[in-house]
Amino acid sequence: MKHFLEDIKIDLEKNANHYGDPDCKICNGLGIILDNYSLPGESSYKLCQCVEKMTLCDGNPPYEYFDPKENCMKECPSKKARIALKKILFLEKQSGIPTRYKNKLLTSIDVNISEGDNFLYVIDHVYAVIKNYPSNKNTYGLYLYGKTGTGKTLLSCIILNEMIRLYQIPVRYAKISRDILGKIRDTFNPQSEFYGEGRKIEEELANIEILVIDDFGVQKDSPWVNNVLYDLIDTRYEKNLLTILTSNEPMDSWKDISNGRVFSRLKEMCLEIHLDAEDYRLKKAKSIH
Ligand SMILES: Nc1ncnc2c1ncn2[C@@H]1O[C@H](COP(=O)(O)OP(=O)(O)O)[C@@H](O)[C@H]1O
Ligand SMILES: [Mg+2]
Ligand SMILES: [Zn+2]
Repeated sequence: MKHFLEDIKIDLEKNANHYGDPDCKICNGLGIILDNYSLPGESSYKLCQCVEKMTLCDGNPPYEYFDPKENCMKECPSKKARIALKKILFLEKQSGIPTRYKNKLLTSIDVNISEGDNFLYVIDHVYAVIKNYPSNKNTYGLYLYGKTGTGKTLLSCIILNEMIRLYQIPVRYAKISRDILGKIRDTFNPQSEFYGEGRKIEEELANIEILVIDDFGVQKDSPWVNNVLYDLIDTRYEKNLLTILTSNEPMDSWKDISNGRVFSRLKEMCLEIHLDAEDYRLKKAKSIH
């Protein structure tokens, strides 16, 4: 099964931003590859061999070398790749993606284990969202729902990681209780480092190019919470920004909340996909025995 994810990976890389050797079989032209030997929490990307090979500078800014023939300094052919790598590492750091899901790409998905359910359909949509993004930014978002352990957080983080790696787009991962509601509540507490910064946090989430809201809908009986969520979703809707949501509950469960306002926005912004696989950890345990 691995081969079809490999094919998808190559297809995405061929359509991405290229900073390396276009004929390189290792990076497919990206110039940047995932470093499989990096430690958890460490930077996970590095330059591909093809970029090292074309390097004429000393590897430091301003990435120039001396050309004796013309007796002047020139831009190193590796410059764009070196700048792109820095950008990727910066975007990754800013993204808030949890360490556990940091180095995960489409090829990290274990397909065999999910055979028999709708996992291939799910992967198709994840792939389409990534592939179509550069040409059609208002591509539909996803609302992934299902039980615990079905891969919702994994898939949503894979989308963010691929968007950073392939296109260098600013993204944000936010877990609803901790990164959104918790932080905004904190802004009312004078002891908190976020005191008085409520609007800033809300605006940042409302404006980031691609946002994952993980575990959406866990505290939906508070009108305050519903308003915060509605404002966030509504602003992103108006700006046509890509939003990926994960939830334990179907979109329908929002129908009667806040006069259905959140529901109607979600319905227009996102394709709802049910992950009906078994808990991955249980399944894996079973497959070992
Ligand atoms: N199809 C899959 N392939 C590889 N790992 C998976 C898959 N589905 C889930 N996992 C792993 O199982 C664990 C639980 O997945 P997670 O995405 O956190 O589930 P959820 O967010 O739906 O509760 C994670 O460690 C994740 O990496
Ligand atoms: Mg999760
Ligand atoms: Zn290469």
